[in-house]
Amino acid sequence: MDHFLYRDGQLWAEDVALAEIARAVGTPAYVYSAATLLRHFDLFDQALAGIDHLVCFAMKSLSNIAVLKLLGDAGAGMDVVSGGEYLRARAAGVPGARIVFSGVGKTRAEMHTALSGGIRQFNVESEPEMEALSEVAVALGVTAPITIRVNPDVDAQTHAKIATGKSENKFGIPISRARAVFAMAAALPGLRVVGIDVHIGSQLTTLAPFAAAYAKVAELTAQLRADGHAITRLDLGGGLGIPYTRSNEAPPLPAEYGAMIRQTLGHLGCEIEIEPGRLIAGNAGLLLSEVIYVKSGEGRDFLILDAAMNDLIRPAMYDAHHDIVPLVEPVAGVEQRPYDIVGPICETGDTFARARPMPPLAAGDLVAFRSAGAYGAVMASEYNSRLLVPEVLVSGDQFAVIRARPTYDEMISRDSIPAWL
Ligand code: LLP
Repeated sequence: MDHFLYRDGQLWAEDVALAEIARAVGTPAYVYSAATLLRHFDLFDQALAGIDHLVCFAMKSLSNIAVLKLLGDAGAGMDVVSGGEYLRARAAGVPGARIVFSGVGKTRAEMHTALSGGIRQFNVESEPEMEALSEVAVALGVTAPITIRVNPDVDAQTHAKIATGKSENKFGIPISRARAVFAMAAALPGLRVVGIDVHIGSQLTTLAPFAAAYAKVAELTAQLRADGHAITRLDLGGGLGIPYTRSNEAPPLPAEYGAMIRQTLGHLGCEIEIEPGRLIAGNAGLLLSEVIYVKSGEGRDFLILDAAMNDLIRPAMYDAHHDIVPLVEPVAGVEQRPYDIVGPICETGDTFARARPMPPLAAGDLVAFRSAGAYGAVMASEYNSRLLVPEVLVSGDQFAVIRARPTYDEMISRDSIPAWL
């Protein structure tokens, strides 16, 4: 459920008409609903009620510090994958004790930043990374809490570019080698092994792959405990999928996911961490855009928008579907017609949808891409020297720009011409 609904013939974000935001901020622009973000966080938090747990928002999905503060104040932890994300989480006021550091290529500088600023744990993905972390921790005179990410060799049945739990993927250590790697970690100075980490992919729409991976984690926990390791924490990653269409998609709910976690891992008495990103942020955000032209082509009509692949890359990159809806509610029974919906960028990949049935639209009309809160703004670029898309947060009847659209001067002045040129 989200808080973007038609009322009085217009699309609203909570109690603010989206047309008002478009007027005030211009388009394209991302708009997030605070109530939806909090509701989605609460669903996960409640799903694990009664178990010692921490919901760490995968902030790679949406990393504006206003959003991080909103979730952090509600009790969320953060899953970070870079020094930049770590510093954003801290700037939003999230304590280090609630930040987990994931990622396959953490640099020593990033380890140093997190260790000196405070960190709940590093999710270590390889032996060389473990050695580097041991050295950095020893040099700082501290102990780094770690989990080790295992690769369970499970097919997440999702898009190939976002599956991470098969043995051919770059992530984690093969589960078959886990006992040896845990033994190595226990022998290294500056490290304290606290648990196991696993993450098998994103936009999973059934529970079976999770359950298969978590069953392997349960078995490994027993083995590692028998080997003498104190396994007290399990980080189960993120990945629960969302409905991208309004129709018949019904991925499992957080409550069902939580019940499956209890069933597969509840008996182990471990603290549970999860790292959802998309389910918290995805349907809590829209991308607003204006129709620049309606162009008739050979046997097809193009809706040319002022948003482009640099603002929302998911359709070009993953063939992802986003519902696109007009801000003015279509009258009931209006005849839909197919449009190819495209941006202004000079490549054919800048196509959001082909032959998409839409109510008739004209230049100047406003539309919204639904389900764009996750992996939207964070993946935006300035390709074609288009300004980085701004972000707006709505709460009740208030809204605020949480990232302003830069000016052309700001964009251009980041470059510099060498004195010798
Ligand atoms: N934890 C780890 C270690 C991850 O790698 C990811 C996502 C998550 C948690 C969060 O997964 P989520 O709950 O959001 O599914 N840009 C792609 C998605 C990339 C996901 C990468 N890892 C997209 O737009 O679909």
